[in-house]
Amino acid sequence: MKILVFPGSFDPLTNGHIDIIERSLKICDKLVIAVFTNVAKKPFFTVEERMKIIKEAVRKYNNIDVDSFSGTLSDYVEMKNANAVIKGLRSIVDYEYETQMALINKCLNSDFETLLMISDEKDSYISSSAVKDIALNGGNVEKFVPAVVAEAIKNKLK
Ligand code: PNS
Repeated sequence: MKILVFPGSFDPLTNGHIDIIERSLKICDKLVIAVFTNVAKKPFFTVEERMKIIKEAVRKYNNIDVDSFSGTLSDYVEMKNANAVIKGLRSIVDYEYETQMALINKCLNSDFETLLMISDEKDSYISSSAVKDIALNGGNVEKFVPAVVAEAIKNKLK
């Protein structure tokens, strides 16, 4: 069974993430969406809230697990017996960051494989940070995130 891990902060989940999730399902038997705590970022949603939102957004798929972890991605992938990690690639900026991460993870575990999936053109400018910035400034994020996320953001800001 081919297991892929899709790691991230998902704060919040965007349409770009959903596109990578749906296309990843075509090349694996099971996809594990792993919510990581990023110590460098101040979170908008708690890890529990993010997991709840993601579970709701992907509930029509029966071969997706939603999990959380604090620790290294390398340890997590080994623990899950995953074949590879998949990440979305929007731009040359992502490319530089992701190749560095992939090489570091390979150093930590020589069996660690990273797959970079080119984001759909229509999602190439969407980021969780931009969504948060729009939301915190009173803008409408409905074009960029699944409905469940837009609703959760509204409730959080109430
Ligand atoms: O959605 P993000 O914030 O770009 O996701 C980044 C994430 C969570 C994939 C990255 O920060 C990560 O791998 N965190 C786990 C900690 C780790 O393994 N660090 C060592 C690699 S440099």
